[in-house]
Amino acid sequence: MANKTAFILNGPNLNLLGTREPEIYGRDSLADIEKACREKAADLGLAVEFRQTNTEGTLVDWVQEAGSKGAGLIINPGAYTHTSVALLDALSAIDIPKIELHLSNIHAREEFRQRSVTAPAANGLIMGLGAAGYGLALDALAALIDRV
Ligand code: DQA
Repeated sequence: MANKTAFILNGPNLNLLGTREPEIYGRDSLADIEKACREKAADLGLAVEFRQTNTEGTLVDWVQEAGSKGAGLIINPGAYTHTSVALLDALSAIDIPKIELHLSNIHAREEFRQRSVTAPAANGLIMGLGAAGYGLALDALAALIDRV
């Protein structure tokens, strides 16, 4: 599976991980998570494209790029999870395995967070497991990529 690339895309405010509401999102920074993802991906024989943006259109562009260059996608759309039809459309348009990830359990939070607009386009979801979810998502993605 060498040279296949897993895109790991992170949406708004995830650059603040570590200091942002740590009781909800944990104390790992996004750099910590990226490092762990790179180690895990290397074990799985995957290359990693790890990115974060606060901008919806940039996320849409990156999802499209993942569709043409990537073997699979893990996305934490942040608050765009609950609002972005543009992101749903971008995810629906690409034909690679996709996992939606949330650090927190969105079903245990405010009502407006309990609906994911983007989830219907995902093969599967991982949520509520904090930073560890990224490693679990990579395991799941590698299995899905192997199946293709
Ligand atoms: C989040 C959950 C979203 O509701 C929130 O807007 C985020 C992070 C999570 O990882 O738990 O920014 O996607």
